[in-house]
Formats: sequence, C-alpha cells, structure tokens
Amino acid sequence: MTFQENLPYLKNERMRRPGMGRVGGIPLDENTCNTWAQICNFQASPGDLLVATYPKAGTTWMQEIVDMIQHNGDVQMCRRAPTYDRHPFIEIVAPKPVLSGLELAELMPPPRIIKTHLPIQLVPPSFWEHSCKVIYMARNPKDSMVSYFHFQRMNHGLPDPGTWAEYFNAFLAGDVPWGSWYDHTKGWWEASSRLQILYIFYEDLREDPSREIRKVLQFLKKDLGDDVLEKIVHHTSFQEMKDNPMTNYSSIPSFILDHSISPFFRKGTIGDWKNHFTVAQNERFDEDYKMKMSGTSLRFRMEL
Ligand code: A3P
Repeated sequence: MTFQENLPYLKNERMRRPGMGRVGGIPLDENTCNTWAQICNFQASPGDLLVATYPKAGTTWMQEIVDMIQHNGDVQMCRRAPTYDRHPFIEIVAPKPVLSGLELAELMPPPRIIKTHLPIQLVPPSFWEHSCKVIYMARNPKDSMVSYFHFQRMNHGLPDPGTWAEYFNAFLAGDVPWGSWYDHTKGWWEASSRLQILYIFYEDLREDPSREIRKVLQFLKKDLGDDVLEKIVHHTSFQEMKDNPMTNYSSIPSFILDHSISPFFRKGTIGDWKNHFTVAQNERFDEDYKMKMSGTSLRFRMEL
C-alpha cells in the first residue's frame, strides 16, 4: 500500500515529534537510526536515479522536473500519484501502517527515481557500485535556513525548531536533522568531479529554468523538443506546483504537515532571509560562512 492509501488509517493518530539519534555523527530521526542497517544495505539497480539535496533546497521541484523528463512531458502521467508515492524517500521510516521509503522502493520496478537528504558518506554503497546517476540540488544557506525553520514548525515529523534565534544557532552548529549544511553541500560538491553527479543550484534554476533543465536533459541523455521543454518549465513553475495536489503535499493530514502554520510552498524566492536575519545575525553568519567555505571552490549567490 502506498503512503496515500494508508492515510485513512492514520486519521486518528496523534503525532509525537520524533527524537533524534545519530549515524556516523549525523543527526537523523530515531526511526531512521533504528533501521540504519537495512537502509545502508538498500540494493539500488543500474538505471535508478538519485535526487539528493540538503532539506529545503528544492527537492520537490527537481523531482517534478525529472518525472516530467522521464515521461516526455506527459502531465497526466506525472499526476498519477503524489510526489512522495512516485519517488521513494529512501531513509524515511514513517509510522505503521505507512510504508517506509525502503518498502516503497522495493515494490517499484526499477529504474526508479529515489529521493534522499543523506550526506554523501551515508548514501547506500550500492548506488555507487551500480554507477547510478545523481542530481544534487543546492540552495544558498541563508534561504535554506529560513525555509527549514518554517518547515520544522509545520512538520510534526521533525523536531520543534524553537525560536528563530535558537534555530539560527542550531543551523550554524549543524545541530538540525541531516546535519551541517556546510558539510553536506561541500561533500557532494567535491564528489561531483569524480562521480556521475549533476550539481544544480536553486538560484540558477530560478533565474533561468530552461537553461538549467537543458543541463538535466543532457545529463539524462534525453532529447526532447523545445515545445516539451516549455511544457516542463510551465508545469514545474512555483505557482503550478503550489496549485497541484500531486506536488503540494496537501494530501498529508494536518497533524503531520500543518500548512496553516506555514505552507509547504511558502515563497519560493531568493533573499527571503533578509526578512528574518537581524543585522548582527547576518554579520555573524557571514564571518562563519567565510571560515567554513574557505577551502572550497563552491560558491553560492545569496541574492540575484
Ligand atoms: P520556501 O520555503 O523558501 O518557499 P524541498 O522540496 O527541498 O522541501 O524545498 C522546498 C522549498 O523549495 C520551498 O522554499 C518551496 O517553496 C521551494 N520550491 C518548491 N518548488 C518550487 C518551484 N517550482 N519554484 C521555486 N521554488 C520552489
């Protein structure tokens, strides 16, 4: 049964925010930690595509783009199920009777599109053994932090973020689910020069979706015409995805995702951090960023 088919059974459940454990030093949901041996042993198939991100980098956006590409721009096919049932989220372990990401993946015939937020060192080794392609989507840390703060407020499947000031410190310290933004983005960046990883920036995709989607097409060796490309750009625009019940997470009950606290499709902009960061926080952030990013060629745009 898919996640969606099991939702009625969850109706009367009360969601307790999960505790966190650690795997290899990375903070992860305790249910993920308890299932780690099986997750790590997941058997990818050649041809499976991994969409990897640090949370809130535009995962759902990239998932919809690759789904549209794989289905040659067929919008109806991409409306066959909600995002979370089309693409298994490999490390997620939901309350029973909902299927875990592993169980969902095992029910699907390969090749599959698989989602992960894992840092590169925790990716199940079989993805590399089978030379699976990966699309890594990255977003500047200031907007990622703001988006993640609001997401943790509305998602009862994640720890309570506390106040903005507390969250600001936790994010800088990497003390949030899936760990440090800095280690995550740098780890995937360094690996992208030696593995089949396409590294895409949220800011670039926002700036020129056609240009960036062309890179994805080329990476996936798909040759679709300009009319299909235009269709993909339109179908995956912020407003279209916000209004689409198959992408906007509105089918998840509100005791898990409470869109009245903050919608999943919140703003989708670059620079919203300016509405959250104090001047002092921004100065502290910039100093810390300079230090943590000093040894890498990875660069982000905090505004366009
Ligand atoms: P905001 O909270 O800043 O609005 P993820 O899918 O990784 O959880 O990322 C969610 C973030 O990506 C949200 O950011 C969401 O609005 C944004 N997003 C999703 N689809 C988008 C799209 N088509 N265009 C622009 N931003 C999008």
